[in-house]
Amino acid sequence: MHKILVTGGTGFIGSHTVVELFQAGYTPIIVDNLSNSSIQMLDQIEKIIGQRPEFHQFDLCDEAATKKFVESNPDIKGVIHFAASKAVGESVVKPLKYYHNNFFSLINLLNAYQGKPINFVFSSSCTVYGQPDILPVSESAPVKTAESPYGNTKQIAEEILSETANAYDNYQIISLRYFNPVGAHASALIGELPIGVPQNLVPFITQTAIGKREKLTVFGGDYDTVDGSCVRDYIHVVDLAKAHVAAIKLLEKGNPDGKYDVFNIGTGNGYSVIEAIKAFENASGQKLNYEVGPRRDGDIVKVWGDVSKSTAKLGWTAQLGIDEMMASAWEWEKYIQENPLAE
Ligand code: WQD
Repeated sequence: MHKILVTGGTGFIGSHTVVELFQAGYTPIIVDNLSNSSIQMLDQIEKIIGQRPEFHQFDLCDEAATKKFVESNPDIKGVIHFAASKAVGESVVKPLKYYHNNFFSLINLLNAYQGKPINFVFSSSCTVYGQPDILPVSESAPVKTAESPYGNTKQIAEEILSETANAYDNYQIISLRYFNPVGAHASALIGELPIGVPQNLVPFITQTAIGKREKLTVFGGDYDTVDGSCVRDYIHVVDLAKAHVAAIKLLEKGNPDGKYDVFNIGTGNGYSVIEAIKAFENASGQKLNYEVGPRRDGDIVKVWGDVSKSTAKLGWTAQLGIDEMMASAWEWEKYIQENPLAE
């Protein structure tokens, strides 16, 4: 079955997508520079799918290496491009790292495929919407000025992809705008592996519950929301991985709506931080030590997705709810407590 290049395939969403691609009959080929993931993720993937995925270690910012890889793999028919720097806070402190890494890798990849028919799926983010004026937010909502260099790289990447798809005849492209990816594979063999102090909510919750962190601080309790804490559309990483398989299938059939398209990948449900904490406590049976503290700069107050286009056109709908997201995240945290992976 078709070979699919998965850049960033040893990362959180990439590894789950490699599993779902394989189980859908594809042959995933991983390229990763291991700058923000562990090579042992290959062993973990192998435990799930029964074979070791093909893996090439190099940096997509290296134009020659990228060109050489593409030229020597002519039978790759599709690309899912995850490889990028993705920490919102770090991007504010190190914008040049984000612009260099996220744009050079993307442009080198697109250039390497010039003239070659390619189906290309891009990892984008609901962060491009900023604070939407209307909720749930649909794909037709205006893209707002990004709150961070990370968000800006996603917005500009989408423009690069749209213009590339429409200027050249060999690219068919879809951008998937993720809401908040959380949880882990049901096997608890792969999951989110934050290096250092977790920036995102759910790994901080599970590390607090297991005793690696003393307590969780809820960033803000005085917002105009159900309980004063921010609202997000959390999406199970396995559902998210399946959305990438659906996008590849749509591109293989040919997207009747055009050579470039975008889809919201969320559940359509919003949960506040405190509701997410309660869901974790219910799903895990663990009481969480948390307190409400000051707001975090740059946070938007509330966002959840209108996912009707993904259901209608991508043939994809999230199947897993907040309980499964939290239960699977907790199982994964306990697994890596017993079986630490080399960072
Ligand atoms: C969620 C909510 C925090 C930690 C960003 C990017 C998005 C994607 C995911 C890359 C917020 C609150 C968090 C904590 C808290 N990027 N929180 N205490 O900021 O919605 O999305 O990360 O994968 O593109 O924009 O995710 O998990 O950081 O925060 O109260 O210790 O949890 O304030 O309301 P975010 P997050």
